[in-house]
Amino acid sequence: MAIVLRSLHFLVLVYVSYTLLALAQDETGFIYNGFRDDQANLSLDGLAKIHPNGLLQLTNLSRNAVGHAFYQFPMKFNTTSSLSFSTNFVFAMVPAVEDNGGQGIAFTISPSRNFSHAEANRYLGLFNDSNDNSSANHILAIELNPVPGSDFGNITDHVGIDVNSIDSVEIAPATYFTDKEGKNISLELTSGKPMHLWIDYNETEKFLNVTLAPTTIPKPNRPLLSRHIDLSQYLLESMYVGFSSATGTLASDHYILGWSFNKSGPSQSLDVSSLPPLPKRKETPSLVLITSFIAVAIVLITVAGAVAYILRRKKYEELREDWEEEYGPHRFSYKNLHKATKGFKDTELLGEGGFGKVYIGTLPSNVQIAVKRVSHDSKQGMKEFVAEIVSMGRLRHRNLVQLLGYCRRRGELLLVYDYMPNGSLDRFLYGNKKPNLNWAQRFRIIRGVASGLLYLHEEWEQVVLHRDVKSSNILLDAELNGKLGDFGLARLHDHGTNPQTTSLVGTVGYLAPELYRTGRATTFTDVFAFGAFILEVACGRMPLKVQAQGQAEQVILVDWVTECCRRGAILDTSDPRLEGNYVVEEMELVLKLGLLCSHAIPSARPSMKQVVQFLDGDADLRELPHYNASFDAITSKESYDFLSFPFSQASAPSMSSTDSFVRGGR
Ligand SMILES: *[C@@H]1O[C@H](CO)[C@@H](O)[C@H](O)[C@H]1NC(C)=O
Ligand SMILES: *[C@@H]1O[C@H](CO)[C@@H](O)[C@H](O)[C@H]1NC(C)=O
Ligand SMILES: *[C@@H]1O[C@H](CO)[C@@H](O)[C@H](O)[C@H]1NC(C)=O
Ligand SMILES: *[C@@H]1O[C@H](CO)[C@@H](O)[C@H](O)[C@H]1NC(C)=O
Repeated sequence: MAIVLRSLHFLVLVYVSYTLLALAQDETGFIYNGFRDDQANLSLDGLAKIHPNGLLQLTNLSRNAVGHAFYQFPMKFNTTSSLSFSTNFVFAMVPAVEDNGGQGIAFTISPSRNFSHAEANRYLGLFNDSNDNSSANHILAIELNPVPGSDFGNITDHVGIDVNSIDSVEIAPATYFTDKEGKNISLELTSGKPMHLWIDYNETEKFLNVTLAPTTIPKPNRPLLSRHIDLSQYLLESMYVGFSSATGTLASDHYILGWSFNKSGPSQSLDVSSLPPLPKRKETPSLVLITSFIAVAIVLITVAGAVAYILRRKKYEELREDWEEEYGPHRFSYKNLHKATKGFKDTELLGEGGFGKVYIGTLPSNVQIAVKRVSHDSKQGMKEFVAEIVSMGRLRHRNLVQLLGYCRRRGELLLVYDYMPNGSLDRFLYGNKKPNLNWAQRFRIIRGVASGLLYLHEEWEQVVLHRDVKSSNILLDAELNGKLGDFGLARLHDHGTNPQTTSLVGTVGYLAPELYRTGRATTFTDVFAFGAFILEVACGRMPLKVQAQGQAEQVILVDWVTECCRRGAILDTSDPRLEGNYVVEEMELVLKLGLLCSHAIPSARPSMKQVVQFLDGDADLRELPHYNASFDAITSKESYDFLSFPFSQASAPSMSSTDSFVRGGR
């Protein structure tokens, strides 16, 4: 059984091979379902080539090029008896860019397959200027042309019958007829999809029929072109059949996928499913695609940019109002301050005070600055405050920390000062990290601060109250010169509060007794605080100190010094860290002056002018009218007693109107 089957198989193979051979040899017809066979017997020229998969390519994307593929052997036409022929083939035009497609493909019957004289950029690779339209050509061509010709109006995708000339004798737009829909459907020749064309000539009827269709459907019943034509006038006995293709200025890949030809009866149908596939063109993105991609990219970039910009804006956002215009020169941009302080990094933190954190910063000019971030929540009074701050920027004295400018943000005010490399005085007096100050240094600081305060009180165009003189507000420059800082800042807490309530600003221990009653700061209250301050420097003790071992009893420095003074032992109060190394007269002067400034009765306190005179030795303390009475008078003890704060911290707490209870100190 198996042997019989195998023999049968063999017989069939032999028979098929024989028929194919016979067909090829008698040269009346052939069929190529792809051109895989080495012996395809095609004659190629120009760009024409056969791909390994059997695809016949006529032209590629090179411009102004031609390609020809002709059956190698001529067909015998007997002009009196056998002119009929039938052919069908599948072609494809794959243009580089969607809307062009070369000059097209022409199925050609020609006496010669030498087209070396043809022009590459016109005439479909068949003619040249001089022989176009010459009856000596004996050429019949069916052109598939995506480019409008000069003939029959400008029809882009068209099929034409050409006799001896590029100018068609008849053309039709590329369409096919479907019975199903009962109408013509347009085809785009350069769609890149394979299409099927049938050409049939019947010698007796003398009709040349041309039929086009997509490969997905069988041959339509109605031809696209049906032309009465007597080919005996044109054809010669020996004619070559094949294809001509030219790219012109619009390049395109032109392909023939399969081809069937017959001179004695209808051509065999191609097996469309076995035709070689078209190469997958690397999708050259269309202009629309590129444009939309670019548009999307631009939109994305714009959005990203906008978001970045907004975030940046938000990050560096400032509050800026019209009235601030005049303070322009004093205005710092937040961005610059942000940069200068490395983004307000913790490593740049100099200290944290009652009003906010202070950061060190470096401006692009290499100038070092201190930036104080003061939080504020009220808009109210901000205008006046900024006006005051800016006007204080105009204050110039060697014993004042120079205010360089400000910046406002939502809920925040930034004040920019000269940077003081040695920090605040209290750290020298109480901290262990800083070296001990000797008496000469201390005395110089006291004198400096006194002249700074005098400048504020009397020497500037208007009286400026400091309101918060204390050792932590005295800053030391590189040469240990004392400079008053934070002047006027206490005022910030005045703003936005009910004017009916008493504003109490300053630091406990430095607050003059009358402040608790009136709440009004005066030069006298500043002098009182100055008194507490100089006692602090001389004694190395805070004005108010909770006794050790948690006793509720507070030691009030003034009272203690007063007591020692009454005993005639005022020098006992001098800072032990000085180890007795001081100028006795100066120490006594400072201590007594401290007591005088701390007088409970405001008018009994000396003015800053007098204070400076005493310190400079230009006046004698004893000349003061209250001098003798001063040390017997009631001290501030009584004033403090009624307050009885629940002190729990060893440091001097500061107090302000906004927080009516004691707040943690520095
Ligand atoms: C095709 O060409 C080859 C080589 O030129 C030849 O051997 C063969 O006989 C040809 N086939 C036909 C059918 O003419
Ligand atoms: C077209 O084919 C020719 C011949 O094979 C080749 O030299 C040329 O580079 C090709 N052009 C393109 C654009 O592929
Ligand atoms: C053409 O056909 C006619 C009629 O059949 C015949 O007489 C003539 O010899 C043929 N011509 C050639 C060249 O074969
Ligand atoms: C045009 O082609 C013909 C042959 O087809 C040739 O004899 C002639 O020289 C060509 N003319 C030009 C200008 O190339």
